[in-house]
Amino acid sequence: MQKQEQLYEGKAKKVFKTDDPNLLIVDYKDDATAFNGLKKGTIIGKGVINNRMSNLLMQRLEKDGIPTHFVEELSERETLVKKVSIVPLEVIIRNISAGSFAKRFGVDEGIVFDEPTIEFSYKNDELGDPLMNAYHAIALKLATREEIETIKKYAFAVNESLKKFWAECGVTLVDFKLEFGKTSSGEIVLADEISPDTCRLWDSKTNEKLDKDRFRRDLGGVEDAYAEVMKRLTAHI
Ligand code: TMP
Repeated sequence: MQKQEQLYEGKAKKVFKTDDPNLLIVDYKDDATAFNGLKKGTIIGKGVINNRMSNLLMQRLEKDGIPTHFVEELSERETLVKKVSIVPLEVIIRNISAGSFAKRFGVDEGIVFDEPTIEFSYKNDELGDPLMNAYHAIALKLATREEIETIKKYAFAVNESLKKFWAECGVTLVDFKLEFGKTSSGEIVLADEISPDTCRLWDSKTNEKLDKDRFRRDLGGVEDAYAEVMKRLTAHI
């Protein structure tokens, strides 16, 4: 597959055209940002880990009946994916209180919910990714009611699949963010990435943070945490 001109550069990935109009190449960087780009840094080796981890998890999700954009891993940092138009919603599932949930509602981190929660943010950096509900998304024509229902169904299915898998690895899946896209034929598929950048992953025994919160909160040991979750994943996948 021939890599052609760069289409887009995001905070953590670059996206390139290919000679097939329905396929793109994503190239994972080591750049890390937080707080809508206000905090910037590098997590050495992150691109390699996130590329591999996201691909392994998406292949697993495909087996569980969740369609994804994944096509083929091309190199340590590059993956061939289906070209989709991204639904501009950040879809967040939570199993345990943490992060903005704990802050917004004034509760401690670590409260285990009886049922997972779902929330949407409007993917818009200028506005700071504001929280929105499904009615707002439909009103703004970001997605149809049917598409939102499909996205919700897939997001909860991703949670069931990944929660079980990470538990086998000795990791608690606290929360995560998904993005979905629409293919040229109108199919909704899971897109973007699933990695320690986009999930909160805690050691099941100690609750030690093994994800990007180590970078966001200056906890140190960022690279080691990414390597640790990757090691546990490859031992169990
Ligand atoms: P939050 O608690 O800060 O809202 O984050 C919820 C989850 O979403 C957490 O696993 C981190 C992930 N996330 C992203 O992937 N990208 C983002 O821009 C933000 C704010 C959170």
